[in-house]
Amino acid sequence: MPLVEFKKICKSFKTGGKETVICDNYDLAVEKGELVAIMGKSGCGKTTILNMIAGIEPIDSGEYIFDGVPVKIRTASDGVKFRRNKIGIILQHFALINDYNVYENVELGLWESGLGEKEIRHRTHEMLESLGIADLRDKYPNKLSGGEKQRVAIGRALVCRPALLLADEPTGALDAETEAEIVALIKKLNKETNTTMIIVTHDKEVADNCSRIITLDKH
Ligand SMILES: Nc1ncnc2c1ncn2[C@@H]1O[C@H](COP(=O)(O)OP(=O)(O)OP(=O)(O)O)[C@@H](O)[C@H]1O
Ligand SMILES: [Mg+2]
Repeated sequence: MPLVEFKKICKSFKTGGKETVICDNYDLAVEKGELVAIMGKSGCGKTTILNMIAGIEPIDSGEYIFDGVPVKIRTASDGVKFRRNKIGIILQHFALINDYNVYENVELGLWESGLGEKEIRHRTHEMLESLGIADLRDKYPNKLSGGEKQRVAIGRALVCRPALLLADEPTGALDAETEAEIVALIKKLNKETNTTMIIVTHDKEVADNCSRIITLDKH
């Protein structure tokens, strides 16, 4: 059974009398444990599709099934509930909290987990170790390199052990060498934790490191 399944999904934006069709009867299935890349030209709808999977962007019609259960999201709070402890998200520009140190930024991913303090400390520490940033735990984001920031963002997304990781251009702001490190890290975490991962990327090298590439056409 796929973790993420779209059946005949339709989505378009209407602004000022102009309609932008993102998908028309679009089918998608991502199996558990897969590391999938989504590629396609700028504006073809990659971020919109990721946001529909995350329950952030409403779907016009069709069926969205997550882990065998139909997803029905009507309000923003339905979306929050749907994502909680199930979906981790990382973005191109890290979106770290500057007033929090590395430890606190990762721990943030467990605020809604319902776990006790001791388990939260344990899991956060374990995550920092597996990302190779335990020695940076007291540093603040403005003192970190791009690659280090992205490790923290990955930690925050994965510390609650979500079934699904969504990443929108996670290496877009990094140089080639740091990008290769982050891709290797994502691959390692995919193997070790069996977390299903969907990564939007412009970069063929990043995509070639994934187990499957989905290319979206421009409508
Ligand atoms: N909220 C919105 N309202 C109206 N149009 C939108 C909205 N969000 C996105 N679009 C349009 O939908 C299309 C797809 O946008 P999207 O951000 O999904 O593309 P993308 O493939 O992620 O592009 P990029 O590679 O540049 O990030 C674009 O034409 C965009 O202008
Ligand atoms: Mg985008």
